[in-house]
Formats: sequence, C-alpha cells, structure tokens
Amino acid sequence: MEMEKIILTGDRPTGKLHLGHFVGSLRRRVELQNSGQFDKIFVMIADAQALTDNADNPEKVRQNVIEVALDYLAAGIDPEKTTIFIQSQVPELAELAFYYMNLVTVSRVQRNPTVKTEIKMRNFEQSIPVGFFCYPVSQAADITAFRATTVPVGEDQAPMIELTREIVNRFNNIYGETLVEPEILLPDNAACMRLPGTDGKAKMSKSLGNCIYLSDTAKEVAKKVKSMYTDPLHLNIDDPGHLEGNCPFIYLDAFSTDEHFAKYAPQYANLDEMKTHYTRGGLGDGTVKKLLISILEETLAPMRERRAQFENNIPMVYDILRRGSIEAREAAAKTLDEVRSAMRINYFSDTELIKAQSEKYKK
Ligand code: TRP
Repeated sequence: MEMEKIILTGDRPTGKLHLGHFVGSLRRRVELQNSGQFDKIFVMIADAQALTDNADNPEKVRQNVIEVALDYLAAGIDPEKTTIFIQSQVPELAELAFYYMNLVTVSRVQRNPTVKTEIKMRNFEQSIPVGFFCYPVSQAADITAFRATTVPVGEDQAPMIELTREIVNRFNNIYGETLVEPEILLPDNAACMRLPGTDGKAKMSKSLGNCIYLSDTAKEVAKKVKSMYTDPLHLNIDDPGHLEGNCPFIYLDAFSTDEHFAKYAPQYANLDEMKTHYTRGGLGDGTVKKLLISILEETLAPMRERRAQFENNIPMVYDILRRGSIEAREAAAKTLDEVRSAMRINYFSDTELIKAQSEKYKK
C-alpha cells in the first residue's frame, strides 16, 4: 500500500488570527484541503501548548479556542474535509510526548532558535516552566500521533519539524520502524514567510499592536492600511520611492495577483510594473494603499460573512470541535497502540506475554 498523505498543523489559541497567520499558513491549508491530494487533514487548536506559558491565565486560552475556531471556519477550513480538534482533548498526545522526552537531550532543546527567542521575549531567564521548555517535544508528538507526512507552517516552526524528524529516527532505530517522518511545507515567498506589522517593524504580532486581524471590520482594515509605514523619504509624489521595508508593497507581494491588477489597476500588467513606477517617482503612497485595501477586502469580506454565520451558531461550532476531537483521538489512539507494543509496554494486549513468562518461571 502506498503511504497515505496526511497533514497535521495547528495554532496556539493565545489571540485572534491575523494576516500574518493567513499568508504564513492558513491560506495554504485551505488550498491543500481543496486540492483533494491528501487522504486526511488535521488542524489542531493547541490549547495545551498555549498553557505552557499561560498557566496563570486559563481563561485567555479558553476564550481564544473559540476565536481561533471561528477564524479557521471563516478562512474556509471546511469541517467536512478537515478534522478540527482541540489538543487537550486528545490525552494520547501527552502520553506520547512523555515517552519522546527520553529521546531528546536538554541541550538539544536549548539550541532550538525559536525556543531561545521566545524565552527572551517572555523574560523567562531562570524561571522557564518545564512544560514550556518541553513544548517542541510535545509538538513532535502532535505531528507523529497522526502519522503526518506534511506540516504546513511558518518558518519559525522549522526547528520543531527538524526535531520531530530526529525523534522519529531515534524511535524507529531503537524500537523498530513505527513512526512516519514528516516534511515541512513553507510559504512560497519571503513576504508570506515574515509578513511585517503595519508599523513596518518585525513580524506582525499581537504584543506589538501592529496586526490586521482576519476579524477586523472593513473600516478598521482601511484605517490600518492608511497608517502603514511606507518610505519616509518619499515626501512628494514625484520623488523616487524606495521599496525596501515599504509595507504596502510587501503586503502586495503577499496578496496580489495579476488578476487583481487587471481588475483594480489595469494601467499595470502586474506588481513589478507598479513597483517600477514607484521607484521612478510619480506614484503616491495613497494610490498604492487604495489598491491594497481593495485586494485585502476581496479576501476578507467573504471571511467576515462566513464568520458572522458561525457566530450565529456557536453551539454548532463547539459541536464541530467535539466531533473533530473524537475523530482525532481515535486516530492518535491507533498510533499509541503501535507505539506501546514497539516500546514493550503493551502488557495486556500481547497474548504471548503471559504464556512466555509462565514458561520462564515454570519449576
Ligand atoms: N507551535 C505552533 C504555534 O506556535 C502550534 C503547534 C502545536 C503546531 N503543535 C503543532 C503546529 C504541530 C504544527 C504542528 O502556532
């Protein structure tokens, strides 16, 4: 039998999803879901992982589980095609993580660049919660429990996938071929990889207050785009403009297609032609921003509509999550059975064990 193609991916429910999430992975997930090329797709709301650095704020995690679920559904994740589930409702994942911890050294996790940055950002210094420190290992459990072959995520998650592959190899080496080695699927261009915030600084991030949320109103989106950082040297329309760090252009890199140009700016065949005009001089930031607003609205308006429909039926959203979690648990339990027998801890399902031990102790 050919190996099944399976996707597992997810997000921590610590805030509403924004455009960075959308171009970084959410948009791709919807495309992959609709491509029909995958046998199974799991999207996980990683509440247990969110708790690793929010132990004292469980209500925040609880509120954001539903926010993220609504963002998923609004973006076009279809529960008929994709299993959406909540991490904590699949306890097999915690069990698997516990076994994987024996296969990873402390120094290996200490070298993880994403964990390093997060420790700095959170000022953990000497008070890193053990659970937080171990989350990359638990992420390997999330991925492998579902036998995922493909993990569509942003670039910051690459060290986690790398660690997962190491754990899979080590496990298979010690206990025999049991686990599947996953591949990462990264966004297609630099703008999508690291969408800057509207202030032009670092990545879009809730703590920096520079986000455009998928759930923002048209008015909020327009206001945020109009206030975007552009080129501080481009004072008059006729001045030559610079593209580097110029937010509206980076967003156009991430969002615009030639069809958008045909529809909203037919004087340019594509983004490159518009960029040339801007660098030459004679194109105002306002015009660029207006185009960006139209393009963003083409994506966001249908999402707003779908979100409103689901907001009108919250019990149904919880039901989608409940059914998804049951299905995910069944899939993970199957892998755990195989893991337990590979690890020789399947005492009660191994019919040979009692017989063999009886022989051994026979007088
Ligand atoms: N670490 C991811 C994030 O920060 C969430 C996550 C948890 C995840 N487990 C995963 C992503 C497994 C992909 C695969 O959003």
